[in-house]
Amino acid sequence: MIGEIDEVNGKSLVFEPAAKPVPADERARLLVDPGFGRVFTDHMAIIEYDDQKGWHDARITARQSFEMDPASPVLHYAQEIFEGMKAYRRPKGGAALFRPDANARRFVQSAIRLAMPPLPEEMFLESIRELVRADREWIPDTEDGSLYLRPFMIASGSFLGMRSSTQFIYAVIASSVGSYFKDAPSLSLWVTRDYVRAVRGGTGEAKCGGNYAGSLIAQAEAIRNGCDQVVFLDAIEHKWVEELGGMNVFFVFDDGSMQTPPLDGTILHGVTRDSLLRLARDMGLTVREELYSVDQWKADAESGRLTESFACGTAAVVTPIGSVKGVDGGFTIGGQSSGPLTMRLRSALVDIQRGDAPDPYGWTE
Ligand code: COI
Repeated sequence: MIGEIDEVNGKSLVFEPAAKPVPADERARLLVDPGFGRVFTDHMAIIEYDDQKGWHDARITARQSFEMDPASPVLHYAQEIFEGMKAYRRPKGGAALFRPDANARRFVQSAIRLAMPPLPEEMFLESIRELVRADREWIPDTEDGSLYLRPFMIASGSFLGMRSSTQFIYAVIASSVGSYFKDAPSLSLWVTRDYVRAVRGGTGEAKCGGNYAGSLIAQAEAIRNGCDQVVFLDAIEHKWVEELGGMNVFFVFDDGSMQTPPLDGTILHGVTRDSLLRLARDMGLTVREELYSVDQWKADAESGRLTESFACGTAAVVTPIGSVKGVDGGFTIGGQSSGPLTMRLRSALVDIQRGDAPDPYGWTE
């Protein structure tokens, strides 16, 4: 549960309540069917950084626009990182976060990769806890509702030279959300052959805006071809399945085993991915983190060896994949609906996240 600590590394996180919060009846109307990433809460967290003072001016304040110099490096060189995590309304009241420490650690790793100052994990955690405490009324009370938290860090300042900035803004905004994929029993995927997402030594493992900006053209290609999501193959052999536009991918076989691409430098270290691996192993399932080619995926789906596939991520949770298409044809998976193992894993995860089942892993706080 969200604790009562108000100190960030000895410095207090100042709370400046919004002068004009959204009225309760208007908020209730917005929470009926919030969709994803459209409804925002009253407050945000901000912590500033510069080379002289380090991290300073930590506050929870009214959600507001940034004033930025047009020469801010983030606007030119995309020196930016972000996270995605959720707070859930608890059956007995209050709110809980799911594995926020994992997001805090990944945020540090992303910062290092993007030559940004790592935000101490305890500051990250406190900013999240305090924002959720301020805006807990914005957590939808619906079956698939949650408060999606978007921590991010941008390079501010004013210069055009190619070097890391000396000034940064860390902020967290919150959005009341329902399902990421609305009304889809299963996803249709498009395998792009023209674009790749990441190469080893690049930024594929980091959660930085540039990775997502670079994927948008391929995602648009997927939509043009009538599909929900793009599948990226590896950049060298154009053969191995790596990741979807904004989520990890799993394969399920007729012997009950599961497989997902390994974390070999190009794939995001998904917190949901990691949690599902743990849950599956503890269910006694055989789980492999191994390369899987798109041709093998097709052959296995056609022979019946592959029975299910699913996408996973904080936003996507666990979403079944029903079909895969590319320039050279396509294939369907199972009955193009939700497979039993996919749904079992989804329930095991969601029940822990929502507090409907005990949490033997200590993942919720
Ligand atoms: C998340 O799952 O939190 C992400 O960052 C993915 C994004 C496409 C919404």
